[in-house]
Amino acid sequence: MADFRRLNVGVIGAGWVGSIRANACARNPIVDQLHIAEIDPRRQSEIAAETDPVSVTDDWETLITDESIDAIIIAMTPETARFPIVMAALRAGKHVFVEKPIAPSIAEAEKAYAVAEANNAKVTIGYSRRFDPRYVFIRKALQDGAIGEPVTCLISRHSTRELGEKITGRSKMSPTSIGGVHDLDFVLWCLQPRKPVRVYSQQAGKLFNQKSDTPDHQWVMVTMDDGTTITVGVGWILPVGYPNYVQAWIEVVGTEGALTIDDTHKEVQFNTTRNGIQFPMSTMPGEQVDHVFAGSMYDETNHFLEAIVYGRPVMVTQDEASLVMEVYNAADLSAERGEPVLLPRNDPAGA
Ligand SMILES: NC(=O)c1ccc[n+]([C@@H]2O[C@H](COP(=O)([O-])OP(=O)(O)OC[C@H]3O[C@@H](n4cnc5c(N)ncnc54)[C@H](O)[C@@H]3O)[C@@H](O)[C@H]2O)c1
Repeated sequence: MADFRRLNVGVIGAGWVGSIRANACARNPIVDQLHIAEIDPRRQSEIAAETDPVSVTDDWETLITDESIDAIIIAMTPETARFPIVMAALRAGKHVFVEKPIAPSIAEAEKAYAVAEANNAKVTIGYSRRFDPRYVFIRKALQDGAIGEPVTCLISRHSTRELGEKITGRSKMSPTSIGGVHDLDFVLWCLQPRKPVRVYSQQAGKLFNQKSDTPDHQWVMVTMDDGTTITVGVGWILPVGYPNYVQAWIEVVGTEGALTIDDTHKEVQFNTTRNGIQFPMSTMPGEQVDHVFAGSMYDETNHFLEAIVYGRPVMVTQDEASLVMEVYNAADLSAERGEPVLLPRNDPAGA
């Protein structure tokens, strides 16, 4: 017999990522009832067939007002329409897992955390890199001093233009604020307790700007207070090979060693006469392969559920969430101004 009360969980938005979260919940014995809010009828029937939820609705407020629901996972898009749902769920006393960003601004994120604290509710953000063992190995090496003092960290990430078009079609958020945010969160987490003090960013655009005002790529360079440098780049115009393919290359160099992680998914090449070379299991959220999940999103979802029932802390703290927002806001400002931005910033544009 479990020594905890099982949870009833609602998932709002059962698209690509929301359906992974819902499937993770459906397979987790911590979850008693699963409820889904999704506005697309096709996705409603697909997710119902996959997860056998207790209810499926197109009205997310039904899940918020249902007092039997303990926790809400928010994965609907567009990101810019999400904050009212976050606040409604927290005000109703639900535990909340939200895909980034938690809020449009740091001030609004602070409001969300204040409501969560007042209601004794857990709130966390989907920074799934923190659940990829190779990435966690980097953090461990840095925190243990295994490569000495860090000198410089680079993460260069590119996704296919199919994914870029999906993302830029729903909001005008920059490559860094929507994609690079994962890598910024990860590197800042690795380098704790160091703090970022200077941010410089440049964007480039030759393809997407023909039909929208979003760039194709963004570099961000961050200087930490001990002089360590971080370079994070995100682009979304790779030719379409494998659906939702994402490749990343990571170099961490320290005074006593170096770590290189090839996250370009070339280890599995699936070559058929019909489709040529493809790279299965190469998406960021991961994918189901028969009875196993290839990726970090199941562990991340399970961690949230366990944090609730065992009263453990969630992975992403408020201070960490704010710091990442501060850095990507500074990056976007730097790209706009064409000059570095110093942190912490107290000038009127700081908000
Ligand atoms: N952590 C990662 O590795 C990772 C990877 C990809 C995407 N993401 C994030 O996950 C989030 C979801 O992305 P996605 O690719 O799954 O998007 P998606 O477009 O595939 O899914 C969004 C779903 O929300 C539904 N929806 C829209 N409005 C709704 C509403 N009012 N109520 C209920 N459902 C509604 C849509 O019908 C759609 O099915 C994004 O914020 C994205 O940035 C995270």
